[in-house]
Amino acid sequence: MDNLFNPEGVIQQAQALAAEAFGADHTYFLANGSTAGLLAAILATCRPGDKVILPRNVHRSVISGLILAGAIPVFVLPDYDSDLDLAHGAAPSTIAQALAEHPDSKAVLLVSPTYYGTCSDVETIAQLVHQSGLPLIVDEAHGAHFAFHPALPISALQAEADVVVQSTHKTLAALTQASMLHLQGNRVSPDRIAQALQLVQSTSPNYLLLASLDAARMQMATQGEALLDRALHLANNARSRIAQIPGLQVLASDRAATPGFFALDATRLTVIVAGLGIDGFTADEMLHQDLGITCELPAMHHLTFIITHGNTPEDIDRLVDALETLAQRHRNTAQSDTTRSLPTFPIASLQTQATYSPRDAFFAPRQTCAITDAIDRLSAELVCPYPPGIPVLMPGELITQAAIDYLKHIQAIGGFITGNSDPKLNYLQVITEP
Ligand SMILES: Cc1ncc(COP(=O)(O)O)c(C=O)c1O
Repeated sequence: MDNLFNPEGVIQQAQALAAEAFGADHTYFLANGSTAGLLAAILATCRPGDKVILPRNVHRSVISGLILAGAIPVFVLPDYDSDLDLAHGAAPSTIAQALAEHPDSKAVLLVSPTYYGTCSDVETIAQLVHQSGLPLIVDEAHGAHFAFHPALPISALQAEADVVVQSTHKTLAALTQASMLHLQGNRVSPDRIAQALQLVQSTSPNYLLLASLDAARMQMATQGEALLDRALHLANNARSRIAQIPGLQVLASDRAATPGFFALDATRLTVIVAGLGIDGFTADEMLHQDLGITCELPAMHHLTFIITHGNTPEDIDRLVDALETLAQRHRNTAQSDTTRSLPTFPIASLQTQATYSPRDAFFAPRQTCAITDAIDRLSAELVCPYPPGIPVLMPGELITQAAIDYLKHIQAIGGFITGNSDPKLNYLQVITEP
Protein backbone atom coordinates (compact mmCIF):
# COMPACT_ATOMS: atom_id res chain seq x y z
CA MET A 1 0.00 0.00 0.00
CA ASP A 2 2.87 2.39 -0.84
CA ASN A 3 5.40 4.06 1.46
CA LEU A 4 4.81 7.46 3.09
CA PHE A 5 8.52 8.33 2.93
CA ASN A 6 8.89 7.47 -0.74
CA PRO A 7 5.39 7.46 -2.23
CA GLU A 8 5.04 6.02 -5.71
CA GLY A 9 1.58 4.47 -5.68
CA VAL A 10 -1.69 5.14 -3.89
CA ILE A 11 -0.19 7.60 -1.37
CA GLN A 12 1.40 9.59 -4.19
CA GLN A 13 -1.93 9.67 -6.04
CA ALA A 14 -3.86 10.65 -2.93
CA GLN A 15 -1.39 13.42 -2.09
CA ALA A 16 -1.56 14.74 -5.66
CA LEU A 17 -5.37 14.82 -5.50
CA ALA A 18 -5.15 16.66 -2.17
CA ALA A 19 -2.70 19.21 -3.61
CA GLU A 20 -5.18 19.86 -6.42
CA ALA A 21 -8.18 20.15 -4.08
CA PHE A 22 -6.50 22.46 -1.55
CA GLY A 23 -4.61 24.52 -4.17
CA ALA A 24 -1.00 23.51 -3.38
CA ASP A 25 1.93 22.47 -5.56
CA HIS A 26 2.74 19.56 -3.21
CA THR A 27 0.82 18.01 -0.32
CA TYR A 28 2.30 15.70 2.32
CA PHE A 29 0.13 13.46 4.49
CA LEU A 30 0.87 13.61 8.22
CA ALA A 31 0.12 10.76 10.60
CA ASN A 32 1.22 12.69 13.69
CA GLY A 33 -1.00 15.73 13.53
CA SER A 34 -0.15 19.28 12.55
CA THR A 35 2.48 18.99 15.25
CA ALA A 36 4.64 16.92 12.86
CA GLY A 37 3.99 19.40 10.03
CA LEU A 38 5.01 22.41 12.10
CA LEU A 39 8.16 20.68 13.35
CA ALA A 40 9.07 19.82 9.75
CA ALA A 41 8.26 23.33 8.46
CA ILE A 42 10.67 24.88 10.97
CA LEU A 43 13.35 22.21 10.45
CA ALA A 44 13.12 22.75 6.67
CA THR A 45 13.52 26.53 6.85
CA CYS A 46 15.80 27.25 9.84
CA ARG A 47 19.26 26.10 10.85
CA PRO A 48 20.62 26.36 14.41
CA GLY A 49 20.95 30.05 15.31
CA ASP A 50 18.61 31.30 12.56
CA LYS A 51 15.93 33.79 13.54
CA VAL A 52 12.24 33.20 12.88
CA ILE A 53 9.57 35.89 13.36
CA LEU A 54 6.38 34.62 15.01
CA PRO A 55 3.58 35.76 17.32
CA ARG A 56 3.82 34.89 21.02
CA ASN A 57 0.45 33.05 20.96
CA VAL A 58 1.83 30.11 18.94
CA HIS A 59 0.87 26.54 19.74
CA ARG A 60 3.34 24.54 21.84
CA SER A 61 4.31 22.41 18.82
CA VAL A 62 5.92 25.50 17.28
CA ILE A 63 8.10 25.93 20.37
CA SER A 64 9.03 22.24 20.07
CA GLY A 65 10.08 23.01 16.49
CA LEU A 66 12.32 25.85 17.70
CA ILE A 67 13.92 23.50 20.25
CA LEU A 68 14.57 20.82 17.64
CA ALA A 69 15.90 23.23 15.00
CA GLY A 70 17.83 25.46 17.44
CA ALA A 71 16.11 28.47 15.87
CA ILE A 72 15.87 31.78 17.73
CA PRO A 73 12.36 33.21 18.10
CA VAL A 74 11.71 36.87 17.38
CA PHE A 75 8.37 37.13 19.13
CA VAL A 76 5.86 39.77 18.09
CA LEU A 77 2.66 40.56 19.92
CA PRO A 78 -0.69 39.66 18.39
CA ASP A 79 -3.51 42.18 18.76
CA TYR A 80 -5.25 41.65 22.08
CA ASP A 81 -8.88 42.33 23.10
CA SER A 82 -8.63 43.16 26.79
CA ASP A 83 -12.43 43.13 27.36
CA LEU A 84 -12.69 39.52 26.22
CA ASP A 85 -9.14 38.44 27.16
CA LEU A 86 -8.66 37.22 23.58
CA ALA A 87 -5.42 37.23 21.57
CA HIS A 88 -6.02 37.54 17.82
CA GLY A 89 -3.57 37.50 14.89
CA ALA A 90 -0.55 39.70 14.31
CA ALA A 91 -1.13 42.91 12.34
CA PRO A 92 0.73 43.42 9.03
CA SER A 93 2.41 46.52 10.52
CA THR A 94 3.73 44.41 13.41
CA ILE A 95 5.27 41.91 10.98
CA ALA A 96 6.67 44.74 8.82
CA GLN A 97 8.36 46.27 11.87
CA ALA A 98 9.87 42.93 12.91
CA LEU A 99 11.16 42.36 9.37
CA ALA A 100 12.77 45.82 9.39
CA GLU A 101 14.35 45.27 12.81
CA HIS A 102 15.52 41.72 12.05
CA PRO A 103 16.52 41.67 8.37
CA ASP A 104 18.62 38.56 9.05
CA SER A 105 15.51 36.45 9.83
CA LYS A 106 15.05 33.28 7.82
CA ALA A 107 11.27 32.76 7.99
CA VAL A 108 8.00 34.16 9.34
CA LEU A 109 5.40 31.92 10.96
CA LEU A 110 1.78 32.96 11.55
CA VAL A 111 -1.12 31.32 13.35
CA SER A 112 -4.23 31.95 11.29
CA PRO A 113 -6.97 31.28 12.21
CA THR A 114 -6.54 31.23 15.97
CA TYR A 115 -8.45 28.67 18.02
CA TYR A 116 -11.23 31.29 18.19
CA GLY A 117 -11.45 31.49 14.40
CA THR A 118 -9.95 34.98 14.08
CA CYS A 119 -7.77 35.37 11.00
CA SER A 120 -4.81 37.59 10.16
CA ASP A 121 -4.51 39.49 6.91
CA VAL A 122 -2.39 36.66 5.51
CA GLU A 123 -2.39 38.06 1.96
CA THR A 124 -0.82 41.39 2.95
CA ILE A 125 1.60 39.69 5.32
CA ALA A 126 2.65 37.20 2.61
CA GLN A 127 3.49 40.13 0.30
CA LEU A 128 5.59 41.79 3.01
CA VAL A 129 7.40 38.57 3.84
CA HIS A 130 8.08 37.78 0.19
CA GLN A 131 9.39 41.33 -0.44
CA SER A 132 12.00 40.47 2.22
CA GLY A 133 12.82 37.29 0.31
CA LEU A 134 11.57 35.03 3.11
CA PRO A 135 9.09 32.14 3.20
CA LEU A 136 5.81 32.43 5.12
CA ILE A 137 4.73 29.38 7.13
CA VAL A 138 1.09 29.41 8.27
CA ASP A 139 -0.23 27.26 11.10
CA GLU A 140 -3.72 26.82 9.66
CA ALA A 141 -4.49 23.90 11.98
CA HIS A 142 -8.03 25.24 12.46
CA GLY A 143 -8.70 26.29 8.86
CA ALA A 144 -8.58 23.12 6.72
CA HIS A 145 -12.12 23.87 5.48
CA PHE A 146 -11.44 27.43 4.22
CA ALA A 147 -10.68 26.47 0.62
CA PHE A 148 -14.10 24.92 0.07
CA HIS A 149 -16.60 27.74 0.64
CA PRO A 150 -16.51 31.34 -0.61
CA ALA A 151 -18.14 32.69 2.57
CA LEU A 152 -15.23 31.42 4.69
CA PRO A 153 -12.03 33.46 5.10
CA ILE A 154 -9.48 33.19 2.30
CA SER A 155 -7.20 30.15 2.79
CA ALA A 156 -3.50 30.66 3.48
CA LEU A 157 -2.62 28.95 0.18
CA GLN A 158 -4.87 31.37 -1.72
CA ALA A 159 -3.14 34.17 0.19
CA GLU A 160 0.19 32.88 -1.25
CA ALA A 161 1.73 31.44 1.92
CA ASP A 162 4.60 29.06 1.15
CA VAL A 163 4.09 26.29 3.73
CA VAL A 164 0.65 25.64 5.23
CA VAL A 165 -0.09 23.08 7.93
CA GLN A 166 -3.68 21.97 8.55
CA SER A 167 -5.28 19.61 11.07
CA THR A 168 -7.60 17.82 8.66
CA HIS A 169 -8.92 16.03 11.74
CA LYS A 170 -10.18 19.22 13.38
CA THR A 171 -12.68 20.71 10.95
CA LEU A 172 -12.81 18.09 8.20
CA ALA A 173 -13.64 14.41 8.46
CA ALA A 174 -10.19 12.81 8.89
CA LEU A 175 -9.44 10.68 11.94
CA THR A 176 -7.74 12.33 14.91
CA GLN A 177 -3.99 12.79 14.26
CA ALA A 178 -4.43 12.93 10.48
CA SER A 179 -3.19 16.25 9.06
CA MET A 180 -1.62 17.73 5.93
CA LEU A 181 1.31 19.94 5.04
CA HIS A 182 0.91 21.91 1.80
CA LEU A 183 3.72 23.58 -0.10
CA GLN A 184 3.70 26.08 -2.99
CA GLY A 185 6.22 28.21 -4.85
CA ASN A 186 10.00 27.79 -4.82
CA ARG A 187 11.08 29.45 -1.58
CA VAL A 188 11.08 26.14 0.29
CA SER A 189 12.33 23.00 -1.40
CA PRO A 190 10.08 19.93 -1.52
CA ASP A 191 13.14 17.75 -0.83
CA ARG A 192 13.90 19.65 2.36
CA ILE A 193 10.28 19.26 3.56
CA ALA A 194 10.34 15.52 2.75
CA GLN A 195 13.64 15.08 4.61
CA ALA A 196 12.39 17.04 7.63
CA LEU A 197 9.18 15.00 7.71
CA GLN A 198 11.28 11.83 7.80
CA LEU A 199 12.90 13.12 11.00
CA VAL A 200 9.60 13.54 12.84
CA GLN A 201 7.21 10.93 11.43
CA SER A 202 6.90 7.24 12.15
CA THR A 203 8.22 4.71 9.63
CA SER A 204 5.04 2.74 10.42
CA PRO A 205 2.28 5.29 9.82
CA ASN A 206 -1.23 4.09 10.48
CA TYR A 207 -2.88 3.49 7.10
CA LEU A 208 -6.34 4.12 8.53
CA LEU A 209 -5.19 7.67 9.26
CA LEU A 210 -3.75 8.09 5.77
CA ALA A 211 -6.88 6.67 4.12
CA SER A 212 -9.03 9.01 6.21
CA LEU A 213 -7.11 11.97 4.76
CA ASP A 214 -7.97 10.78 1.26
CA ALA A 215 -11.62 10.31 2.24
CA ALA A 216 -11.81 13.77 3.85
CA ARG A 217 -10.27 15.27 0.71
CA MET A 218 -12.72 13.46 -1.55
CA GLN A 219 -15.69 14.56 0.55
CA MET A 220 -14.62 18.21 0.28
CA ALA A 221 -13.65 18.01 -3.40
CA THR A 222 -17.00 16.54 -4.39
CA GLN A 223 -19.49 18.00 -1.89
CA GLY A 224 -17.52 20.59 0.11
CA GLU A 225 -19.47 23.71 -0.75
CA ALA A 226 -22.88 22.13 -0.09
CA LEU A 227 -21.77 20.58 3.20
CA LEU A 228 -20.10 23.76 4.42
CA ASP A 229 -23.17 25.74 3.37
CA ARG A 230 -25.10 23.64 5.85
CA ALA A 231 -22.49 24.12 8.59
CA LEU A 232 -22.49 27.89 8.02
CA HIS A 233 -26.26 28.00 8.09
CA LEU A 234 -26.32 26.06 11.38
CA ALA A 235 -23.59 28.23 12.90
CA ASN A 236 -25.32 31.48 11.84
CA ASN A 237 -28.60 30.22 13.24
CA ALA A 238 -26.91 29.36 16.56
CA ARG A 239 -25.06 32.69 16.62
CA SER A 240 -28.20 34.80 16.27
CA ARG A 241 -30.18 32.74 18.79
CA ILE A 242 -27.41 32.74 21.41
CA ALA A 243 -26.85 36.48 20.97
CA GLN A 244 -30.47 37.02 22.06
CA ILE A 245 -29.99 35.22 25.38
CA PRO A 246 -29.65 37.94 28.04
CA GLY A 247 -26.24 37.79 29.71
CA LEU A 248 -24.48 36.08 26.79
CA GLN A 249 -22.54 37.57 23.89
CA VAL A 250 -21.08 35.85 20.83
CA LEU A 251 -17.80 36.88 19.23
CA ALA A 252 -18.70 38.40 15.85
CA SER A 253 -16.78 39.99 13.03
CA ASP A 254 -18.13 43.42 13.99
CA ARG A 255 -15.53 43.26 16.78
CA ALA A 256 -12.82 43.11 14.13
CA ALA A 257 -11.65 46.63 14.85
CA THR A 258 -7.95 45.75 14.96
CA PRO A 259 -5.75 44.80 12.00
CA GLY A 260 -4.83 41.51 13.74
CA PHE A 261 -8.51 40.48 13.54
CA PHE A 262 -9.00 40.65 9.79
CA ALA A 263 -11.73 38.03 9.36
CA LEU A 264 -13.71 35.53 11.40
CA ASP A 265 -14.51 31.93 10.60
CA ALA A 266 -18.29 31.98 11.10
CA THR A 267 -18.32 28.27 12.01
CA ARG A 268 -16.48 29.07 15.28
CA LEU A 269 -18.79 30.19 18.07
CA THR A 270 -17.10 31.88 20.99
CA VAL A 271 -19.75 32.52 23.63
CA ILE A 272 -18.83 35.05 26.29
CA VAL A 273 -20.25 33.93 29.64
CA ALA A 274 -18.55 36.46 31.92
CA GLY A 275 -21.75 38.56 31.95
CA LEU A 276 -23.46 35.74 33.86
CA GLY A 277 -21.08 36.09 36.80
CA ILE A 278 -19.29 32.82 36.08
CA ASP A 279 -16.05 31.92 34.36
CA GLY A 280 -15.84 29.73 31.28
CA PHE A 281 -14.49 26.70 33.17
CA THR A 282 -17.44 26.72 35.58
CA ALA A 283 -19.87 27.11 32.67
CA ASP A 284 -18.14 24.23 30.86
CA GLU A 285 -18.48 21.98 33.90
CA MET A 286 -22.22 22.72 34.21
CA LEU A 287 -22.87 22.24 30.51
CA HIS A 288 -20.92 18.99 30.49
CA GLN A 289 -22.20 17.50 33.76
CA ASP A 290 -25.83 18.65 33.78
CA LEU A 291 -26.83 19.74 30.31
CA GLY A 292 -25.27 17.22 27.91
CA ILE A 293 -23.08 19.67 26.01
CA THR A 294 -19.29 19.53 25.79
CA CYS A 295 -17.53 22.58 24.48
CA GLU A 296 -14.30 22.52 22.48
CA LEU A 297 -12.39 25.14 24.42
CA PRO A 298 -13.23 26.65 27.81
CA ALA A 299 -11.36 29.81 28.81
CA MET A 300 -11.64 32.34 31.59
CA HIS A 301 -14.27 34.57 29.97
CA HIS A 302 -15.74 32.38 27.24
CA LEU A 303 -16.41 28.99 25.70
CA THR A 304 -15.67 28.10 22.10
CA PHE A 305 -17.74 25.64 20.07
CA ILE A 306 -16.87 24.27 16.63
CA ILE A 307 -19.77 23.77 14.23
CA THR A 308 -18.95 21.45 11.34
CA HIS A 309 -20.74 19.68 8.52
CA GLY A 310 -21.10 16.79 10.98
CA ASN A 311 -23.64 18.77 13.02
CA THR A 312 -27.42 18.67 12.70
CA PRO A 313 -30.22 21.20 13.49
CA GLU A 314 -30.97 19.06 16.58
CA ASP A 315 -27.41 19.66 17.85
CA ILE A 316 -27.93 23.40 17.52
CA ASP A 317 -31.30 23.28 19.34
CA ARG A 318 -29.65 21.32 22.15
CA LEU A 319 -26.79 23.81 22.38
CA VAL A 320 -29.08 26.83 22.45
CA ASP A 321 -31.42 25.20 25.00
CA ALA A 322 -28.49 24.33 27.26
CA LEU A 323 -27.10 27.86 27.08
CA GLU A 324 -30.55 29.26 27.86
CA THR A 325 -30.77 27.05 30.94
CA LEU A 326 -27.26 28.05 32.01
CA ALA A 327 -28.13 31.73 31.60
CA GLN A 328 -31.40 31.41 33.51
CA ARG A 329 -29.63 29.75 36.42
CA HIS A 330 -27.07 32.51 36.68
CA ARG A 331 -28.73 35.67 35.47
CA ASN A 332 -30.14 36.59 38.83
CA THR A 333 -26.86 36.13 40.62
CA ALA A 334 -24.77 37.99 38.06
CA GLN A 335 -23.03 41.10 39.30
CA SER A 336 -22.96 44.10 37.03
CA ASP A 337 -19.15 44.29 37.00
CA THR A 338 -18.41 40.57 36.73
CA THR A 339 -16.39 40.82 33.57
CA ARG A 340 -13.93 43.03 35.36
CA SER A 341 -13.71 40.70 38.34
CA LEU A 342 -12.44 37.77 36.23
CA PRO A 343 -8.67 37.79 35.75
CA THR A 344 -7.25 38.61 32.34
CA PHE A 345 -3.81 37.68 31.11
CA PRO A 346 -2.69 40.20 28.52
CA ILE A 347 -0.44 38.43 26.05
CA ALA A 348 1.97 41.38 26.39
CA SER A 349 2.76 40.28 29.92
CA LEU A 350 4.37 37.16 28.43
CA GLN A 351 6.83 39.28 26.51
CA THR A 352 9.93 38.76 28.63
CA GLN A 353 13.57 39.06 27.66
CA ALA A 354 14.85 35.54 27.06
CA THR A 355 18.56 35.08 27.73
CA TYR A 356 18.52 31.52 26.43
CA SER A 357 17.23 30.19 23.14
CA PRO A 358 14.47 27.59 23.62
CA ARG A 359 16.96 24.88 22.61
CA ASP A 360 19.73 26.03 24.98
CA ALA A 361 17.19 26.34 27.78
CA PHE A 362 15.87 22.84 27.08
CA PHE A 363 19.37 21.36 27.42
CA ALA A 364 20.61 23.65 30.25
CA PRO A 365 21.19 22.20 33.73
CA ARG A 366 17.98 22.53 35.74
CA GLN A 367 16.76 22.29 39.28
CA THR A 368 13.40 21.98 40.94
CA CYS A 369 12.30 24.84 43.14
CA ALA A 370 9.17 25.81 45.05
CA ILE A 371 6.89 27.85 42.79
CA THR A 372 7.10 30.88 45.09
CA ASP A 373 10.91 30.85 44.75
CA ALA A 374 10.70 30.48 40.97
CA ILE A 375 9.72 34.10 40.34
CA ASP A 376 12.44 35.97 38.43
CA ARG A 377 14.16 32.68 37.55
CA LEU A 378 14.30 31.28 34.00
CA SER A 379 11.87 28.49 33.20
CA ALA A 380 13.27 25.13 32.13
CA GLU A 381 9.78 23.84 31.33
CA LEU A 382 7.11 24.56 28.77
CA VAL A 383 3.96 25.03 30.86
CA CYS A 384 0.69 25.63 29.13
CA PRO A 385 -3.04 25.44 29.74
CA TYR A 386 -4.49 22.86 27.30
CA PRO A 387 -6.52 23.67 25.36
CA PRO A 388 -5.61 26.11 23.80
CA GLY A 389 -1.99 24.93 24.09
CA ILE A 390 -0.40 28.38 24.11
CA PRO A 391 2.57 28.26 26.51
CA VAL A 392 2.45 30.62 29.50
CA LEU A 393 6.00 29.61 30.48
CA MET A 394 8.47 28.57 27.85
CA PRO A 395 12.03 27.26 28.25
CA GLY A 396 14.43 30.18 28.74
CA GLU A 397 11.80 32.79 29.65
CA LEU A 398 11.60 34.72 32.89
CA ILE A 399 8.98 33.41 35.33
CA THR A 400 6.77 36.28 36.49
CA GLN A 401 4.31 36.58 39.37
CA ALA A 402 1.56 37.34 36.81
CA ALA A 403 2.25 34.07 34.95
CA ILE A 404 2.14 32.02 38.15
CA ASP A 405 -1.04 33.70 39.39
CA TYR A 406 -2.70 32.98 36.06
CA LEU A 407 -1.66 29.30 35.97
CA LYS A 408 -2.77 28.81 39.58
CA HIS A 409 -6.10 30.43 38.86
CA ILE A 410 -6.74 28.25 35.82
CA GLN A 411 -5.82 25.17 37.83
CA ALA A 412 -8.08 26.19 40.74
CA ILE A 413 -11.13 26.54 38.53
CA GLY A 414 -10.63 23.21 36.80
CA GLY A 415 -8.55 23.94 33.69
CA PHE A 416 -5.86 21.49 32.54
CA ILE A 417 -2.24 22.56 32.67
CA THR A 418 0.34 20.52 30.75
CA GLY A 419 4.13 20.42 30.52
CA ASN A 420 4.83 20.93 34.23
CA SER A 421 6.76 18.09 35.87
CA ASP A 422 4.83 18.64 39.12
CA PRO A 423 1.14 18.17 38.27
CA LYS A 424 0.10 20.03 41.44
CA LEU A 425 2.21 23.01 40.35
CA ASN A 426 3.78 23.47 43.77
CA TYR A 427 7.22 23.19 42.15
CA LEU A 428 8.68 24.30 38.85
CA GLN A 429 11.89 23.39 37.08
CA VAL A 430 14.18 26.36 36.55
CA ILE A 431 17.50 26.76 34.84
CA THR A 432 20.38 26.46 37.30
CA GLU A 433 22.16 29.80 37.65
CA PRO A 434 25.65 29.60 36.15
C1 LIG B 1 -3.15 26.47 16.61
C2 LIG B 1 -2.74 25.04 16.67
N1 LIG B 1 -1.66 24.65 15.98
C3 LIG B 1 -1.23 23.36 15.99
C4 LIG B 1 -1.90 22.41 16.71
C5 LIG B 1 -1.37 21.00 16.71
O1 LIG B 1 -2.22 20.22 15.93
P1 LIG B 1 -2.33 18.63 16.05
O2 LIG B 1 -3.14 18.37 17.30
O3 LIG B 1 -3.03 18.24 14.80
O4 LIG B 1 -0.96 18.08 16.18
C6 LIG B 1 -3.05 22.76 17.45
C7 LIG B 1 -3.78 21.75 18.24
O5 LIG B 1 -4.71 22.01 18.94
C8 LIG B 1 -3.47 24.11 17.43
O6 LIG B 1 -4.54 24.52 18.14
